[in-house]
Amino acid sequence: MKVSVVKSASSSKSKNLILFSAISEGKKSKNLVLSSKIKSILDLATTDMEEETFKSTIGSSSLYRHTQVDNFQNVLLLGLGEKKNITAESFRLAGGHLYKMLSQLNYKNAVLDLSQLNAICSKNIFSIQAFVEGLGFTSYKLCEHKTKGKSEFDLKLEIATTKGAKANKEVKTALSIVDSVNFAKRLGDLPGNKMNPVILAKEVQKATKGTKIKTTVWDKARIKKENFGGLYGVSLGSGVEPRFIIMEYKGAAASKKPVFLVGKGLTFDSGGISLKPSPSMDEMKYDMCGGTNVIGAMLAIEKLKLKANVTALIPSSENMSGEFATRPGDILTLRNKKTVEVLNTDAEGRLILADALSYAAEKKPAVILDMATLTGAMLMALGNIHAGIFSNDDQLVKKIQNAARSTEEKVWHMPLTEEHSSDIKGTFADLLNIGKTRGAGSATAAAFLKEFVSDIPWAHFDIAGTAWNAGDRKSYCPPKGATGSMIRTLVEFVSTF
Ligand code: BES
Ligand code: ZN
Ligand code: ZN
Repeated sequence: MKVSVVKSASSSKSKNLILFSAISEGKKSKNLVLSSKIKSILDLATTDMEEETFKSTIGSSSLYRHTQVDNFQNVLLLGLGEKKNITAESFRLAGGHLYKMLSQLNYKNAVLDLSQLNAICSKNIFSIQAFVEGLGFTSYKLCEHKTKGKSEFDLKLEIATTKGAKANKEVKTALSIVDSVNFAKRLGDLPGNKMNPVILAKEVQKATKGTKIKTTVWDKARIKKENFGGLYGVSLGSGVEPRFIIMEYKGAAASKKPVFLVGKGLTFDSGGISLKPSPSMDEMKYDMCGGTNVIGAMLAIEKLKLKANVTALIPSSENMSGEFATRPGDILTLRNKKTVEVLNTDAEGRLILADALSYAAEKKPAVILDMATLTGAMLMALGNIHAGIFSNDDQLVKKIQNAARSTEEKVWHMPLTEEHSSDIKGTFADLLNIGKTRGAGSATAAAFLKEFVSDIPWAHFDIAGTAWNAGDRKSYCPPKGATGSMIRTLVEFVSTF
């Protein structure tokens, strides 16, 4: 996909014109917010172009073929919904919708005319960045393992505006985010035999070569030597070695304390000896999305040259049930010397994260954020709408909520209390890897993680519900497939930290 900025739509060679439209408050088709250009199209319209078919709701569009408007053959009106409700997300959704329309119509080029945009919405709400994000996210499709039917569609979009410098900057920012999010989505979508810890580490090394990110990878021997008993113990049932991936970005003075991002990189979770049931087990290829989203965020942070110091840690393993696998009841000693009874080998995410969190806490960062597809209970509680956040610091929660408000990704602050901590106190070791009582499974998992962050301000994102399978909620997210959930929020958090 290529996006360029031009001064006026009339200079474009494309035959396809795109215009935004909206609805004025509360009223129906009669009160469409019409720029003079749209009015002229509707005046020329024959029966199939009647206002009735042109609703302007978000996600709606109307195609007018064989028009003579400014010599454009085809004009596509793209609805933004009610004027008073338009936000940046409306443009992101419109971008997703437009990309789908253009690829269905096989219109490989088009020009978006913004010259009359102020008739449609207020200046400070309009976001080229969000619009290009929506287009770019939707352009992603994993077809590298299809022998036929690979997508040939490569869109060239021109954006016509007199505010060239600002538009160019927004397009550039958007494309940096798009590349990073789509990179992360591909890692998540690839299945276990195509994306394991060893391949993941190589992909990160390749992607960060020649950038300002320094990548270091620990192999199995180093992981053992560093006393990462959780990551090592979880990996024992698999024939594929684990990896610990460290990505360091220094964009600010050395005196500025770093932000640490930690992501669960479980490339396939069979449950181990506590084997998961067969239905939908294939979806456990997505159990690495916390890790891949942290990787995506790092790539974006570097591309955007953010003035921050950020380190990402991705413990990566498979969870399998081979002959050397950790058994239920086994006791593991983790990086910070705490011991844990593994009562359920399927609660493995917290074990591999624990070592990474301890390592992060040792570096005394300003803050630690971790992200993981940690519990099925999170999916039950919040569905695929919100990511749950758990924290030991209310100020930090506010900062995350502010970041999420501006990216319009949804987070929900979940409780984390003494009761959850006492639920994971061990019988034969310090801790249990599952709660003693039923219920609050996401909170007991978070309470487990809390044992490893010392007194560093920390927040945990449980993205089990939002990491893949966004349903049909968002035009720019595939109904099935990795979503890149919370990458934009992490980047926003770091940029304002
Ligand atoms: N990767 C899963 C969590 C998960 C389940 C994410 C379903 C998305 C959808 C995690 O490793 C796991 O299996 N957790 C267990 C914990 C339980 C054994 C306490 C769970 O949620 O069932
Ligand atoms: Zn599991
Ligand atoms: Zn898991």
